[in-house]
Amino acid sequence: MDKIVVEGGVPLRGSVDVSGAKNAALPIIAATLLAEGDHAVRNVPDLADVRTLGRLLGHMGCQVERGAIDRRALGIRVPAAVSPEAPYELVKTMRASVVVLGPLVARWGRARVSLPGGCAIGARPIDQHLKGLAALGAELRLEHGYVHASVPRGRLRGAVFTFDGQTVTGTENVMMAAALAEGESVLRNCAREPEVRDLADALQAMGARIEGAGTDEIWVEGVERLRPIEHTVIPDRIEAGTFLVAGALPGGDVTVRGVVAAHQEGLIEKLRAIGATVSETGGGLRVVGDGRPRPVDVRTAPYPGFPTDMQAQMMVLLCLAEGSSKITETVFENRFMHVQELQRLGADIAVDGKVALVKGVPALSGAPVMASDLRASAALVLAGLAAQGTTEVLRVYHLDRGYERIEEKLAPLGARIRRVKA
Ligand code: EPU
Repeated sequence: MDKIVVEGGVPLRGSVDVSGAKNAALPIIAATLLAEGDHAVRNVPDLADVRTLGRLLGHMGCQVERGAIDRRALGIRVPAAVSPEAPYELVKTMRASVVVLGPLVARWGRARVSLPGGCAIGARPIDQHLKGLAALGAELRLEHGYVHASVPRGRLRGAVFTFDGQTVTGTENVMMAAALAEGESVLRNCAREPEVRDLADALQAMGARIEGAGTDEIWVEGVERLRPIEHTVIPDRIEAGTFLVAGALPGGDVTVRGVVAAHQEGLIEKLRAIGATVSETGGGLRVVGDGRPRPVDVRTAPYPGFPTDMQAQMMVLLCLAEGSSKITETVFENRFMHVQELQRLGADIAVDGKVALVKGVPALSGAPVMASDLRASAALVLAGLAAQGTTEVLRVYHLDRGYERIEEKLAPLGARIRRVKA
């Protein structure tokens, strides 16, 4: 298994480009199932998760090809009939595969999709996806680890549905299904993440009638047929945020090109609070880290709050702060797996339920560490960059699920980082 080796203690300086957003690309690729024909999805990051979803669409009978249009684009040919099934072997490696459920039910009136099961960061049920699809007229049975969906009357019917709690992929699944339902749907308590909005933009380009995506109430007027997608995915706000944190490490000065500043408000506020200077440059954001960060309390929340996907990376900064900070994780119940690894690097952190108390230390010291999930891995790379000596991050496959060649993006900033092939 590959590992990332970092010789830390060198402040990062320079510019880095952001890739397309994984969490927008995934549902948009799933949305191609809503229309027969040749789709073009541009600015798609070349990541393990994207390849997994490509394999899943291939399994159903679609053709997915990178590079035919341009290097950053996926060409997807969706035939008139697909086999509407997502097997456990593929879903277990990526729970986001569940975003095919809404499109399959809407277009073919039936689907067999494996339940994703738990994951390192929490139980992550999909009850809200299922409740929303049931409200649109799908019949859902859970059997042998699979969701079996059918639509007795042939076509879904628009409905008013209120999510019990905000869910990103749940909102996406139900919105995609409603796009082909008969009549009007009103979805309430929706997730407001920019990725939901980007999916809605892609659906609109397909001919869907959707308003309100990006707010907590989405209105959809179903149409009978959609046309193939031609869409460019938004920049990845979490990859960008990870580089912004790298710039805020002591002595850093990093410009992140292509980031959408409006998507970073929750993070920018905290970076300024710790004493970093954040400024907009033409087409990017520049972060200059001062000396040791100031402590600050952080509470994760759905967008536009502080993203749970940035919690681990922010913790690295606070590990080096002059004082104590409190981090409260409200979105997932078990998202402190990185704490034990950061402790191996000399961090002083105590976890009590959903709260982590981080007492800043003057310096971290390199050590071998193990990645447990995607964002935890990114945090360990950042910690390695800040630490004195050598850090080896093992189980890099987690990192490759969501970051495009992170070592190649960080090295030009002065990071002494390399991938060691197994
Ligand atoms: N939840 C339910 N029932 C549901 C759905 C969700 O109780 O039916 C709960 C979850 O257990 C969790 C909370 O609601 O406690 C929020 O989960 P959400 O459904 O919003 O998460 P998701 O859609 O599965 C997406 C991202 C995650 C990101 C979260 C939160 C994608 C593909 N994934 O997951 O990204 O952390 O939203 O913002 O969009 C990552 O990229 O590293 C990642 C984990």
